[in-house]
Formats: sequence, C-alpha cells, structure tokens
Amino acid sequence: MEAHFTEWLNLGIRWIHMITGIAWIGASFYFVWLENNLNRSNPREGLSGDLWAIHGGGIYHLEKYKLAPPKMPENLHWFKWEAYATWLSGVALLLVVYYLNPSLYLVKPGVELSPAMGIAIGLGSMAISYVIYHFLCDSPLGKRPALLGAVLFVLIIAAAYGFSQIFSGRAAYIHVGAIIGTIMVGNVFFTIMPAQRALVKAIEENREPDPVLPAKGLLRSRHNNYFTLPVLFIMISNHFPSTYGSQYNWLILAGIAILAVLVRHYFNTRHDSSKYVWTLPAAALGMICLAYVTAPIHRSPTAAPVAAAEQPASATLAKVEEVGEAPATAEQAAPSEAPAAGSGVDFAKVESVIHERCTVCHSASPTSPMFSTAPAGFMLDTPEQMKAQAAKIHAQTVATQIMPLGNITQMTQDERDLIGSWIAKGAQIN
Ligand code: HEC
Repeated sequence: MEAHFTEWLNLGIRWIHMITGIAWIGASFYFVWLENNLNRSNPREGLSGDLWAIHGGGIYHLEKYKLAPPKMPENLHWFKWEAYATWLSGVALLLVVYYLNPSLYLVKPGVELSPAMGIAIGLGSMAISYVIYHFLCDSPLGKRPALLGAVLFVLIIAAAYGFSQIFSGRAAYIHVGAIIGTIMVGNVFFTIMPAQRALVKAIEENREPDPVLPAKGLLRSRHNNYFTLPVLFIMISNHFPSTYGSQYNWLILAGIAILAVLVRHYFNTRHDSSKYVWTLPAAALGMICLAYVTAPIHRSPTAAPVAAAEQPASATLAKVEEVGEAPATAEQAAPSEAPAAGSGVDFAKVESVIHERCTVCHSASPTSPMFSTAPAGFMLDTPEQMKAQAAKIHAQTVATQIMPLGNITQMTQDERDLIGSWIAKGAQIN
C-alpha cells in the first residue's frame, strides 16, 4: 500500500516538475528567439527593435526598449516562478525517488557509503557547486567567457566522475542534473532577479541604472541557455541504460553535453552568421559515434564462455535469436530432448537464478514491499516471459549490470555469466 502511494506521490511531483520545467525552458527559448529575431532596422525612438508574429490565430506586435519606456507600465510580467517551481519540484522528486530508497537507487552496489552520507553528499554538492560557480563568475575569469565555459565544463564532468564512483549510474546522472539545475535557478534567484529589480527601481526613481548588474545577469542567463540541452538529456537519461549504466557513464555524459552545447551554439548564432552550421552534422555524427562506442560489443563479459564474449550483446530480440543460430554446430542439431547437455546451459538453473534475484520485484505480484506492481510493467514469472524478454534481461543484467536494482538481491558475477551464455546460445527454455 505504501509503495502504491509513493508511486502516486512520484507521479504527482514528476508531472508538476515537467510542467513547470517546460514553462521555464519554453519561456527562456522564446525570449532568446525573440532577441535574435528583433527587427533592428529603423526602430522607433527609444526602441532597440520590434517584431511581428502570428500565433494561435492572432497577430502580435512586440517592441523591445533600449532601456525602459518613459513611464513604467502598471503590469510588468516577470518570469521567475517557473524556475523556482521547477527547482523545488525537482528536489522533492530527488527525495521521493532517490533519498527515500537510498540503498536501492542512490548508492552504487558494493560501495561502502551509508545512505545518510550519500544523501548528505547529494544535497551538499548542489549547494557547494553553486558557491564555486558564483565565485568563478565573479572572478577575473568572468571576463573571459570562453575560458570560463571550459573551466565550468571540466568541473561539471569532474563532479560526474566523482558521483559515478559512489552513486548508481542513474543517481550519478541525476545529481549532475541537480547541480546544473541548482546553478540555473541560483542564477535566476541571486543574480538575474536582483539585476532586474535594480533596473526597474532605477527607472522609477529616474536614475541612471548601474550597468554592472545587467552585464552579470547577461552572462548568467547565457550560461543557463547553454545548460538547457544537457540538462534535458539528463532528465530523460534514465530511459537509456547504455548511457548511465556504462562504466564510463561520466565520459558518455561529457560527450553528449559537448554535442548539445554545439547545437545550442548554432541556434544562438544563426541569425548573425551561418558560421556554425557545421555543428549540426557534427553533432549528428557525434551521436552516431557515441552509439557505436557504447555498443555492448565492446564489453566483454568477464569469464563468460567464448561464444558469449564474442557475440554482440544485442538490444533487440531479433538479434539475440540470430546469435543463437550463429553457432550452427552439433548443439544446434542435437535433439531437443537433451538441449541442456549439448549447450552446457541448464535452463532450470537460469530460471532459479531469475526467480531468486528478479521476481521479488518483477512479478505480477511482487513480494518486495517496495513495489505493489511489477516495476516498468516488466514481469519474469514464467519461462515464456524470460525468453521473450531475453534481450532486455541481457542489456540490464549482463551488459550494464544495472539490474537487480542496487543489487539488492545480491546477484553474483557467475550468475550474470550464466544468464549471458544462456542468452548467447539462443535463450532456450525447454
Ligand atoms: C528491487 C527491485 C528489483 C529487482 C530485484 C530487479 N529489478 Fe529490474 N527493475 C526494477 C525497477 C524499479 C525498474 C524500473 C526502472 C525504471 O524506473 O526505469 C526495473 C527495470 C528493469 C528492466 C527494464 C524494463 C523495461 O521494459 O524498461 C529490466 C529489463 C529489468 N529490470 C530486469 C531485471 C532483471 C533481469 C532482474 C534480476 C536479475 C531485475 N530486474 C531485478 C526493480 C528491480
């Protein structure tokens, strides 16, 4: 019952997080677009440009002031609650998913780290990262944006590496997302909003606004802009075990982040020049390269029989079956009554391993108190289900070893190898 309510709590918070995140990033993309598309030729007195647009059946005319209108409007819209709500709901989600079940989701299996310590590191790193970032931006490095960007990138990837040593792959990724998200919302809260308030106040008091604050705000909002695409990837990354589940997950994240920043850079500059069009095909090529280098073919299951080690551990069932057919040897020709003897993989053993290590959770009626229904709807109660899901089982328990979750059921390497060779030989169940 408790598991059921946690699921709905997760659902509610995640939904809010997504809605507010879309509102925040959507507004941010829109204003960057607006800025880049302003018509700046012959603007009206006091304007820096204007723009006409049609949307939702209406025609809009927007004007941007060089500084401010002669008189402040009664209703000035501010964009901040989308940012704050995204961060707050994100932290709540971190609590519900990772900190409520730290031994399952947070701490890397086999690492000596108490759950409390893991949580402290998670939350502490968010705060410390913002302080370091803030300090760097205000240091002389702040005057050299490209160098600052490179330094920030290296620091973030160093954090990813650190997390990957103590946290599960998913938790490592999400904590990188959390520190970037904290920096982004910190920029809104501590720099951009105060700069805007000072601007409005100066205008109301008929003073010259201090030019330093808006310049700081601009640098921070530019950082936020480049952060968006990597953060969005991190938020969906838990669907992609070949990224976070890899031993080199931090390096894969670095690669994806670079590609994302390149693409963002093109979209930020394309109105002035097409100097960076190359970034689009380069990013596409980069993704193909990443798909290639992360392919399970490069991982050799330790101590697995030769057949298993040499066959590509495919993510598709079709391929797995093909693999099974590949060694068209005596085993294949052996009469089906005695398959175990010939192939050397006894399905009865595989079945008992799966029942022991997986079906506490992956069952129509899980016995684990943490789940009221099979996680991800994924069930391994019957031999037929095991065969049909062989490719997924391989991906998660042999190739990346992210299952069993938190290795809570203490699966051994021998058992993983057994499953690996069973699948490599065609996942026979009779
Ligand atoms: C403690 C509970 C638990 C145990 C034990 C466990 N899993 Fe999982 N498994 C999960 C959860 C939770 C998810 C969903 C992860 C997510 O949120 O994406 C999952 C997801 C999966 C998926 C992805 C399903 C899909 O369609 O996306 C596979 C495959 C999987 N598990 C296989 C296994 C195998 C094989 C074992 C045993 C060796 C195992 N799991 C043991 C909890 C468990």
